[in-house]
Amino acid sequence: MSCPRLLLPLLTLRRVRTAGTGTLSGVHAVSSRSIIDMSYSAHFMDFQGSSIPSGMQKLVVTRLSPSFREAVSLQAAAVPTPGDAELLVRNRFVSSALQRRDENSRLRVEARSNYLRFLKVQFALGAIPKDGERFVGINASDINYSAGRYDPSVRPPFDAGFEGIGEVVGLGLSASARHAVGDTVAYFGSGAFAEYTVVPAKESVPVPSVRPEFLTLLVSGATAYIALKRLGDLAKGETVLVTAAAGGTGQFAVQFAKQAGCHVIGTCSSDEKAGFLKSIGCDRPVNYAMEDLAKTLRKEYPKGVDVVYESVGGRVLELAVNSLANKGRLIVIGFISGYQTPSGILPFQGGTLPVKLLQKSASMRGFFLPHFLADYREALGSMMQMLAAGKLVCEVDCGEMAPEGRFVGLESVFRAVDYMYAGKNLGKVVVEVNPPSVSGSKL
Ligand SMILES: NC(=O)c1ccc[n+]([C@@H]2O[C@H](COP(=O)([O-])OP(=O)(O)OC[C@H]3O[C@@H](n4cnc5c(N)ncnc54)[C@H](OP(=O)(O)O)[C@@H]3O)[C@@H](O)[C@H]2O)c1
Repeated sequence: MSCPRLLLPLLTLRRVRTAGTGTLSGVHAVSSRSIIDMSYSAHFMDFQGSSIPSGMQKLVVTRLSPSFREAVSLQAAAVPTPGDAELLVRNRFVSSALQRRDENSRLRVEARSNYLRFLKVQFALGAIPKDGERFVGINASDINYSAGRYDPSVRPPFDAGFEGIGEVVGLGLSASARHAVGDTVAYFGSGAFAEYTVVPAKESVPVPSVRPEFLTLLVSGATAYIALKRLGDLAKGETVLVTAAAGGTGQFAVQFAKQAGCHVIGTCSSDEKAGFLKSIGCDRPVNYAMEDLAKTLRKEYPKGVDVVYESVGGRVLELAVNSLANKGRLIVIGFISGYQTPSGILPFQGGTLPVKLLQKSASMRGFFLPHFLADYREALGSMMQMLAAGKLVCEVDCGEMAPEGRFVGLESVFRAVDYMYAGKNLGKVVVEVNPPSVSGSKL
């Protein structure tokens, strides 16, 4: 880890700067960093062991638009240098068993669940190799972010992507108190759609190995876990409706509601997804492409549903409100049906909402994960334990069935977003990030 060849020029640089020479030719990559951070981080950059190149690719929001392809472009950038309390994480993946492609959808579900069983056993045995796979996660809200809806004060250009998993290849001095080069970490933070990402050490989550299953827990799993726990007030025997149930976060809501002893209805748009939902314990999958959700709810659940985990918005939200039981709780998780529109939300006939809620003593509550970070550590710890014990399925979709194949490389993030918005994904959409070329190493 020591790097005397690098340390020397940086120490020289400090002396020169202290002497007040002003401009420094030939040190552009680090010129914006503070002097202290540069020297600290240089101590801990694993330039030799991990062959960090000087340049990389990343996805940058260059104009605000709900069309991800219009808003975002792939750009070359310098590999960033971590500050004192930061980690430099390499998001990179070399594929293994997940690369199989099955033509038949039944076989695909079988193969996935066999693979998950295999993973669970291997994970429990500690037999998964530590090194090898690195991913970034796709979220429905990536396009809200690219449309500038998260923080209207932020102006482009800014980096895209919310979450990633990879290995630490460099770090600052105080970060080295708890981390080392070679650690595997997951993180939930901006700028994930890059080959290398600087992550505040305190916001990183140590993981036993770089598996995409861990990535599913950071946003999708945590949202379902905390929202149902804090806002759902689930009681055994209650009925829970989960919309977009076979997706990234829906799959977890189904499983946590089942674990709470509830009867679970899950909506989805294909028989393959319905089969998956059955396999994770959903009592009544509803493929709304084949059957009318409103009719099914009226006929089979005449007393209404006690809790709704609602992600779709628009007419589905209206139906969910109308389907609440007395004392029902509707948790607004998202409204994906509107995200691609200029306003980000479809019209909602809410004029009589107060009457509907009052008549049923029902409630509607919003949930936004960043507001519940106090619950985050407990949620992740608990889900990691469930995963290790084989009690949680974390379904990952790397695009094996996508028309142009598996999502590999940052350029495939565009395809992955389109795939999700076409409702094709089964489980959490994940992109594996290509190893960058090591020619032009920083050495
Ligand atoms: N509040 C929070 O903190 C938080 C955190 C994470 C996610 N979320 C929300 O959770 C929801 C799901 O997000 P995710 O990232 O996990 O995505 P996802 O569920 O993996 O994928 C989106 C799914 O939504 C369904 N869908 C239904 N109507 C759609 C429409 N009109 N357009 C596109 N998709 C539609 C599709 O499944 P079917 O075709 O099977 O219906 C699609 O596969 C989003 O609303 C997101 O904003 C909220």
